[in-house]
Amino acid sequence: MNQVELEKKADDLLLRLRRRPGVYFKANLLAKNLITDENEFTVILNLIKDLGYKIRFRSDTMAFIKAPDILTPTEISYRLKTKVIGHNITAYRSVKSTNDLAAELAEAGAPEGTIVTAEEQTRGRGRLGRDWHSPAGTGIYVSIILRPRFKPEKAPGLSIMTAVALADTINRFCNGEVRIKWPNDILINGRKTAGILTELVADKDKISHIVVGTGINVNLRGEDFPAELKDNATSLRRVNRKKVSRVEVLKTFLYFFEREYRDYPKYGLKKSHGKIKKYSSLLGQTIKILEGKNIIEGTAVDIDFSGRLILERNGVKTPISAGEVTVVKRD
Ligand code: BTN
Repeated sequence: MNQVELEKKADDLLLRLRRRPGVYFKANLLAKNLITDENEFTVILNLIKDLGYKIRFRSDTMAFIKAPDILTPTEISYRLKTKVIGHNITAYRSVKSTNDLAAELAEAGAPEGTIVTAEEQTRGRGRLGRDWHSPAGTGIYVSIILRPRFKPEKAPGLSIMTAVALADTINRFCNGEVRIKWPNDILINGRKTAGILTELVADKDKISHIVVGTGINVNLRGEDFPAELKDNATSLRRVNRKKVSRVEVLKTFLYFFEREYRDYPKYGLKKSHGKIKKYSSLLGQTIKILEGKNIIEGTAVDIDFSGRLILERNGVKTPISAGEVTVVKRD
């Protein structure tokens, strides 16, 4: 039996066992159901144990105790509540950037909702050419492939849409104050916890595909951040002072993402406008925006239905599509 077949049987065995955690099943019956002999059954069990699943044995019976917090297709798809997003999963241990791999898969025809995840990125990319610090086994690095039928001019709002799904997700898993710093940084208690890198491939009036890449600092400890990020970045673990399940965070994010994305073609950001305002860290603040080479200063007064930040200066309102924001501190 080859590796793929063994892995399929391991998945099958896990599904049977975890339906009733803590309940002991007869090993010979399980092996019979899997249509496998004793030797093969041992290989399958070792495979499961090596992945970190906790199985308890008692004479000739076994029980499922606990799943490891690993981003594998088996774990991500177990009780995933989405209809499309995350139904096709490519999961890696270590990659340069999940966004790059997702772009390749999209070019090769991968369907809408395909996700690419990794336990580690060696060249994770952030916005504005920055790096995204992506140490192994602690964060979530996921890229979602989308093939929307709406026009390319509607695409920029997807980043804010994703930020709303991400803020809802992080809010569910932490007890700090969750904010969106326009355009799409997620902050807890003022420190960056997650970021979004949206990449679009389109011609003038048709989108070929979009890759929405999201990085979430879940279980990074203080010492896991490089010195230059330590003071301005945080993680769910640092805020909660305990570990959080990456698998559960990812599944929740995929669910909230799908919920927002389902409404987006029809309503744009209209439906989530209330949430966008509620989560926004900038509204009412005096800010400076670096837009290309220009610095514009004013008060952030709104975010419109296209996701543009509305800046007011001397009574004049200007919509800003993109830029790097700093809050002007008043004494
Ligand atoms: C930012 O805040 O600058 C955006 C960060 C986006 C990081 C994610 S991690 C998964 C995906 N792959 C990448 O290389 N980047 C995005």
